[in-house]
Amino acid sequence: MRLAALFVIALVCPVVADEPVVPLAALPLSTEHAALAVEIELGRELFFDPVLSATKATSCATCHQPQLGWADGRETGLGFAPLARNTPTILNTAFNADGVMFWDNRERTLEAQVLHPIRARDEMRGDACEEGEVVELIVLRVQAIERYRTAMGGTVTMPKIARAIAAFERSLVTPDTPFDRFMRGDKSALTPHQQRGMKVFEESGCIRCHGGPMLSDYKLHVVAAPGERQAFRTPSLRNLRHTAPYMHNGRLRTLDEVLLFYEQLMDEVSETLEGGDAAAQPPLDPLLKHLSVKPGDFLDLKAFLESLSADRYDQRAPVFNGQR
Ligand code: HEC
Ligand code: HEC
Repeated sequence: MRLAALFVIALVCPVVADEPVVPLAALPLSTEHAALAVEIELGRELFFDPVLSATKATSCATCHQPQLGWADGRETGLGFAPLARNTPTILNTAFNADGVMFWDNRERTLEAQVLHPIRARDEMRGDACEEGEVVELIVLRVQAIERYRTAMGGTVTMPKIARAIAAFERSLVTPDTPFDRFMRGDKSALTPHQQRGMKVFEESGCIRCHGGPMLSDYKLHVVAAPGERQAFRTPSLRNLRHTAPYMHNGRLRTLDEVLLFYEQLMDEVSETLEGGDAAAQPPLDPLLKHLSVKPGDFLDLKAFLESLSADRYDQRAPVFNGQR
């Protein structure tokens, strides 16, 4: 604002003769950049605020906890009742291909995703109101909080709430893991052990689904992890160190258990894909035919997977100043 004001003065009185010569204080932020930074912090605050829960009992952060990799460390999420699926991290969701959301890709943008937990009885709504009433209730409630009302330009709407939360989620990225530094050319970023693991990862066929910068094709595949036999999205393999347990239902507790699962899967694959047990429905993904993983590879594979986790990531909770 002050810069803008100075601009106006300079334009109105072009001759400013007696101004002292001073150095530039700092790089001026563009207005878009500054506005985005404000929106991200607004989104962070909303993410942690139980005001978005009809019963005021949960917030997004109940299940997406900063110190647990923005997941919850549980097999499946827990709100007003246990949920069916494992809570994924929101780290790097900005990079989900085509914006797909959830284990079954049923939603397409971070903004649209926000409404699901707010509406869901077992996540944030509880029994305070009907599903059809909850959006209006939440908007009115947020509108009544002066700080939020001001931050949203006087009128609170659900799209504005969703936009701020999505902006905050997009800010949670970890682009500087040892793997990233290695791929950018720093050959010392991965130990020889991890480099061997990367090769094994490619040769074992993992990369056919877990490829690309997020180590996921974001497509649905039936790999028949213990639990429901249905197609789930290939999860990203970034930040696994922070997000155990694994799979759509959290049934595998460690990376060793996951690798053992894939090793045992090879037997089932050769039986079912080579014409054996055709009765198993839905059928296993044909890409699994190329899977070749041996217990002797586990240490190398784990070393590589380890290089995909960030040592540090943004875990900041909002600072409520008490007068919202
Ligand atoms: C009660 C626990 C719980 C609460 C509360 C909750 N989530 Fe989730 N979240 C989950 C679970 C479980 C999933 C996976 C559901 C599925 O795939 O069917 C999920 C999925 C997501 C995803 C998709 C990530 C991806 O890569 O597909 C995002 C983003 C997300 N939640 C953000 C939020 C936001 C924003 C809020 C608050 C408005 C919120 N969550 C509230 C448990 C929760
Ligand atoms: C056919 C595609 C495909 C191949 C090949 C494949 N995966 Fe997966 N991977 C998936 C899918 C789909 C899931 C989720 C399954 C579920 O939750 O039921 C998954 C889950 C995982 C998880 C759990 C991640 C989490 O956050 O829960 C790890 C770790 C993993 N895979 C590693 C590997 C490794 C290592 C290999 C090679 C040995 C491999 N995958 C081969 C598709 C594949």
